[in-house]
Amino acid sequence: MKTEFKKNILCIGAGYVGGPTMAMIAYKCPQYKVTTVDINPVRIAEWNSDILPVYEPGLDEIVKDVRGKNLFFSTDIEKGIKESDIIFVSVNTPTKTFGVGAGMAADLQYWEKTARKILECSETPKIIVEKSTLPVKTALAMERILTLNNNKVHFDVLSNPEFLAEGTAVKDLENPDRVLVGSRQTESGLAAREELVEIYANWVPEERIVKSDIWSSELSKLVANAFLAQRISSINSISALCEKTDADIANVTRAIGFDSRIGSKFLNASIGFGGSCFKKDILNLVYLCRHYGLNEVADYWESVVKINDYQKGRFVFNMLTAMFNTLAEKKICLFGFAFKADTGDTRESPAIFIAKRLIEEKARLTITDPKALKNAKRDLHGVDGKVSYIEDPYEAAAGSHAIAIITEWNIYKELDFEKIYRSMIKPAFIFDGRNVINHKRLFEIGFNVFPTGKPALTHFE
Ligand code: UDX
Ligand code: ADP
Repeated sequence: MKTEFKKNILCIGAGYVGGPTMAMIAYKCPQYKVTTVDINPVRIAEWNSDILPVYEPGLDEIVKDVRGKNLFFSTDIEKGIKESDIIFVSVNTPTKTFGVGAGMAADLQYWEKTARKILECSETPKIIVEKSTLPVKTALAMERILTLNNNKVHFDVLSNPEFLAEGTAVKDLENPDRVLVGSRQTESGLAAREELVEIYANWVPEERIVKSDIWSSELSKLVANAFLAQRISSINSISALCEKTDADIANVTRAIGFDSRIGSKFLNASIGFGGSCFKKDILNLVYLCRHYGLNEVADYWESVVKINDYQKGRFVFNMLTAMFNTLAEKKICLFGFAFKADTGDTRESPAIFIAKRLIEEKARLTITDPKALKNAKRDLHGVDGKVSYIEDPYEAAAGSHAIAIITEWNIYKELDFEKIYRSMIKPAFIFDGRNVINHKRLFEIGFNVFPTGKPALTHFE
């Protein structure tokens, strides 16, 4: 179909990655028509409504600016494929829950269905761009499916992993550290790579567009996430040691962060990392290593996930021991449920594990979060325990024995903790899983304060 647009770009999968990424391309490139499709009609209806399915600071403005002009959301996948020149694929690739590789390998069923759909509907040559994080050599599988038509239609498959982080997606997309584009080293692969580079060059400086072979590109995404997660597990393991030795994790991170080889970013000790990517990608890496017989390498990376699980368990254990070894019938208020601030996403959030463990201890839970309560209800659906969901943190904390800070939302730093203290059962406890509040001040108000990786401040002898 002829349009006034220079290129027709399609994205299959309107999730946390596909939606914001396509919004940014449409915003930066008015000359392209950008369509995002999804099998889920509710998701598409939400993208077309005033309340978008993904909360990201700055996203509403961008979407509202270009939607209906050169950005479209639709359920008509077939039409989208037919009309497109370039197809981004950002369907979900969760960890398998069944069969071989269950709990480790990526579940590629949505990915393969998409590949087959592209093959079935395509009438003209296309560039297919892997945006979802995938095991190395998935592009090869994609190529094999796409050549099942005996090359009647030509496809080039590229790897273009997404590095955006939730909560800062718009900023990361607008000003990325780098954009990575991997291709086959054939004439047609290299030409396809240049076409994709041309799209990003509309707003990303050329030196930040990194070109590579396709397998290195696929692997780099897994490795980038594994390295980031490894930093968190490293600092979290040291936080446990700090609590035993009266050292202060903040002083340790400051001291090591000054070393330019180490750097100061991504060293915040916490209750553990969450999010849809880190655990999934590390397990993916571990599975790949085992597949190739690299068991020592697999064990090394698997320990990053083990320390993360340990950190979450330790948090609950600390609560239990501090609160006289029983949480039964005690009211505990969770401040935050999202896996990090500025998102409503709760996938793999440490909050889920912590909430379930506290319920096992027969605690009564009140959960407050400015953006994630809907997802929290879904995550704890069917869990047999006393849980209430209250958006106002003051109301949520009233009458509780303890507060556990799970997400580092800015609003928690500015609360009137004197008022909160007055409304709580005494002795009042606060467990700061994010080290975001002023511990000394809270101690002076009367709280027994348990930070992460720092000495506890208690009023007990
Ligand atoms: C991550 C990567 O950062 C991003 O590049 C990739 O594309 C997707 O995965 P995301 O999961 O959205 O992004 O968020 P991120 O900011 O990386 O945080 C992940 C988890 O680590 C969160 O639970 C966060 O709270 C935790 N974290 C992060 C820490 O506990 N300490 C830190 O210092 C940093
Ligand atoms: P991510 O965080 O990687 O973006 P999401 O789960 O948020 O993952 O989004 C993936 C989207 O892909 C979902 O909205 C899902 O409905 C969609 N999806 C999955 N399979 C298909 C498919 N075969 N065709 C179109 N969309 C799909």
